Amino acid sequence: MLIEGFHYLTTPVPRAQRSLGYLRESILLMSRSRRCRAAWADHLDAARSAIRHSCADLVRRRTAVILGSGLLDDVPLDDLARCFERVILVDMVHLRPARRAARRYANVTLQVSDLSGCADWLRGERERCADPVSQFDRDDIDFVVSANCLSQLPILPLDWFESRNRLPPVELGRSIVARHLEGLSRLRARVCLIADTEQVTDNREGHVVEQFDLLHGIHLPDPDRSWIWEIAPFGEAGRHRRERHRVQAYLDWRL
Ligand SMILES: C[S@@+](CC[C@H](N)C(=O)[O-])C[C@H]1O[C@@H](n2cnc3c(N)ncnc32)[C@H](O)[C@@H]1O
Repeated sequence: MLIEGFHYLTTPVPRAQRSLGYLRESILLMSRSRRCRAAWADHLDAARSAIRHSCADLVRRRTAVILGSGLLDDVPLDDLARCFERVILVDMVHLRPARRAARRYANVTLQVSDLSGCADWLRGERERCADPVSQFDRDDIDFVVSANCLSQLPILPLDWFESRNRLPPVELGRSIVARHLEGLSRLRARVCLIADTEQVTDNREGHVVEQFDLLHGIHLPDPDRSWIWEIAPFGEAGRHRRERHRVQAYLDWRL
């Protein structure tokens, strides 16, 4: 609790992002990742391995961009900083551990961007959601990773409507997911997409008690790799239930 409060007070995040809940979510994610370190280890290894393999055969290695870099738990930052001339870490919030890790490398920079494209629209500063991925379609960017952020992008925009007892526009969640995938497909860089697609909750008897699609009805093609992320082992979300996510990885994403 004390540590969470410390991050809440000391993380440089514009007030608008704070009020949308991004800082709170990042801090909760960090606390959970620390509590569930052992349960998450295989998932994090699998994600880092997918990223390494995705860029292994690239001839040009100028800029690598990591979308949803977050805590950098699933990002092989050391390898990327060594292999690329520049690495740009993109997230709505960069907590202190990520800022500290980035400072170790002269060629790693942080960028704060809203990858849902909806934050300015929710604040009434735009007429519609933006396409936030197109800014990374640059000649000097050779590698882009979407690092486990796809399913997260609709959550706070949808919460914004729920907390005001308002219905969101039809298909808002689906359109945020679709826009991210289409944006990635248009990039000229090699794209590594890692995304959790489905949540399954089971009990100690091994029965599935809940199952839902994390991508709002968007079905991804067959992945190059896929694995299970035990996101909430028994005891984390409930004594007798655990939550697991299916994760799919694409080493050269195109729609
Ligand atoms: C499950 S975490 C990804 C894990 C991260 N790659 C790591 O290793 O810690 C999802 C990330 O997406 C970020 N995110 C969620 N919505 C976002 C948005 N609208 N714009 C930018 N980043 C966002 C969160 O801040 C979080 O860091």
